[in-house]
Amino acid sequence: MKVVEEEVLLAHRQRFGAEGRLYAAPARVNLIGEHTDYTGGLVMPMAIGFHTLAVVSPREDGRAVIYSANFDEEVAIEIAGLKREPRGHWSDYPVGVLWSLAQEGVAVGGFSLSLAGDVPVGAGLSSSASVEVATAMALLGLVRKELPLKSIATLCRRAENEYVGAKSGIMDQFVVTGAVRERAMMIDCRALEFELLPLPAAVKVVICNSMVKHAVATGEYGSRSDEVAAGQSVLRSLRPGVELLRDATLADLEACKGEMSEVSFLRCRHIITENGRVLAAREALLRGDVAEFGRLMVEAHASMRDDFAASAAEVDTLVEIALQQKGCLGARITGGGFGGCTVNLVAAAEAERFAEAVREAYRERTGIAAECFVCEPSDGALALAKKEGAR
Ligand code: GLA
Repeated sequence: MKVVEEEVLLAHRQRFGAEGRLYAAPARVNLIGEHTDYTGGLVMPMAIGFHTLAVVSPREDGRAVIYSANFDEEVAIEIAGLKREPRGHWSDYPVGVLWSLAQEGVAVGGFSLSLAGDVPVGAGLSSSASVEVATAMALLGLVRKELPLKSIATLCRRAENEYVGAKSGIMDQFVVTGAVRERAMMIDCRALEFELLPLPAAVKVVICNSMVKHAVATGEYGSRSDEVAAGQSVLRSLRPGVELLRDATLADLEACKGEMSEVSFLRCRHIITENGRVLAAREALLRGDVAEFGRLMVEAHASMRDDFAASAAEVDTLVEIALQQKGCLGARITGGGFGGCTVNLVAAAEAERFAEAVREAYRERTGIAAECFVCEPSDGALALAKKEGAR
């Protein structure tokens, strides 16, 4: 599905009998820096051209009525006295944002909200952050309040952590809100500062979906973050100056090896080396050294697979196939892991042929029809709102 603005606006008018204002938030792909965000580390994602559209209009009855075109379902709640009551339902994301806004002291009156998106779900491309940020933009627009990037990202993360109940970091909400076209965004997840980095025109980013499902809200992601937290707390208590894993070196980790489980040691080693790779990837981009960037991606994949144990057989196959193709500089699993997508750095002239060849070889090896997209670094929700002016 490709979401069309005019259609979503028209459907909103037909359903709710009111002109709505339109907001949009993209999806994202992470180029490098996986599972580093929730220990204050470094990440380098970019926004991509899949979107959630949100159309909002006020209503007089004090209710939030939210329609999802993707699920063709409507939910209605009383806004007054809204409690933290997740239902394990798609509406937890927009309702969580409403709840999170209230925690920040942003009072929102009655509204009708239509959501429609073309972000592949469960693929590790941040369909949830896209819904959260689109909702936040729409509700902030409704009450005519402007918030800075950091605050929007933080309140959307809070919705996901505290309302939905997923232990995710800040990366997705931050890049979905603040990305800028033609740029990757290196984020320092402790300082909540960022640097925009150019991607050389000689390369394209190609995403390949293994079609194996991934879900942040369930099991494995949470157990990884617990294993990491356990290692981090050992480092914090034994190594002066280490507050977050971000502060630790491999020497610190080695020194504490006997005090933590083998699993925590490996998870922390992934994160410490991954933070180093993000910095090296930044240097490579600034030099225009795409070969080095690709090499770092391959290393990052091995670390996600071996130390973090967050890959999946099908995804490893996709990476292996990718690296055999002409023009492929690097390939790795992207996002939370346990399935989902790979991100590939490919010579621009070879990108379309690469996508086709990977699809074919993956089907031969696994019987699964992968989806592959050649992507451009796209605008985040704030840039989109500024450019188009909310309609
Ligand atoms: C998910 C989470 C992010 C981040 C990645 C892994 O996308 O939402 O916060 O932790 O996994 O890098």
